[in-house]
Amino acid sequence: MEKDLLCVLDLTREEILDLFELTFRLKERWKTKGTENLFPGRTLGMLFNKPSTRTRVSFHAAMVQLGGSCVYLTSQDTQLCRNETVEDTARVLSRYVDVLAVRTYDQKVLEAMAKAATVPVINALTDRYHPCQGLSDVFTILEKRGTLDGLKAAWVGDGNNVAHSWIHAAARLGFELNLACPEGYDPDPMIMEYAVKANPGIRLVRDPVEAVEGCDVISTDVWVSMGQDEEKEARMARMRPYQVNPSLVSRAADSAMVLHCLPAHRGQEITADYLDKPDSVIWDQAENKMHLHKALLVRLLGGQLD
Ligand code: CP
Ligand code: NVA
Repeated sequence: MEKDLLCVLDLTREEILDLFELTFRLKERWKTKGTENLFPGRTLGMLFNKPSTRTRVSFHAAMVQLGGSCVYLTSQDTQLCRNETVEDTARVLSRYVDVLAVRTYDQKVLEAMAKAATVPVINALTDRYHPCQGLSDVFTILEKRGTLDGLKAAWVGDGNNVAHSWIHAAARLGFELNLACPEGYDPDPMIMEYAVKANPGIRLVRDPVEAVEGCDVISTDVWVSMGQDEEKEARMARMRPYQVNPSLVSRAADSAMVLHCLPAHRGQEITADYLDKPDSVIWDQAENKMHLHKALLVRLLGGQLD
């Protein structure tokens, strides 16, 4: 495995499948045995420049469940707010912590930090990618469905950071992925071009019904991502026809799985039905982030389960 996880393409297909297998094991062991004693005295540093509920807490819990500890930082409470460079920050933090998870805006800032850091750096979301999310979402599909063979998935709404990581996951794992995004909100064409060459089963369409027709999984995300608040009105207007609701889901395969990486806005990108129904998988999807993060920490830091 490479030193860092900056996007899903940093992993080979085999590495992703190995990560999923380890995620299953760690989830099972957590439920039956509890905390592992893999990382005593080791620290995960988290530098987050955007809000987070799930990624922050699930990384923290993941490290604690493996026997390690965490320190949470933002630009505002470090010397970054007084113009210390991200490179110097990464160099120094590498002397104190064993691995860094970074949530920031610009993927290039993350790349600069990873280059300067001597410890592994994990992308905990940038404007461009959210690899841990894409991976744990596909893990959830595997867990619920038992296999990725024959999987037909649809992404409906904004062609954003999470969509980019789903596209990368589909490129590596070879499942069918239809994306329906309004004009002007497509995924990055360069990401699409690479992915479609690797997997011709990845398609971009305009019509959400065409995208979900016969699919086993439908996933969506917010219409306005962090940092896009100024575009809110325009985005809401353009995305309206892309709501995941019973009428759209009825066009998918019977008992299709509806996923959302959360946070959700009921009545915007998704109706309450898929969050509030008793058998919603979205809450397992959120939990699985923690187990996937544990697997990632084990593979990046090394360590053998007994
Ligand atoms: N899905 C996700 O990354 O959620 P948070 O922004 O709460 O971390
Ligand atoms: N696309 C969203 C994902 C939040 C987890 C954002 O970047 O805000």
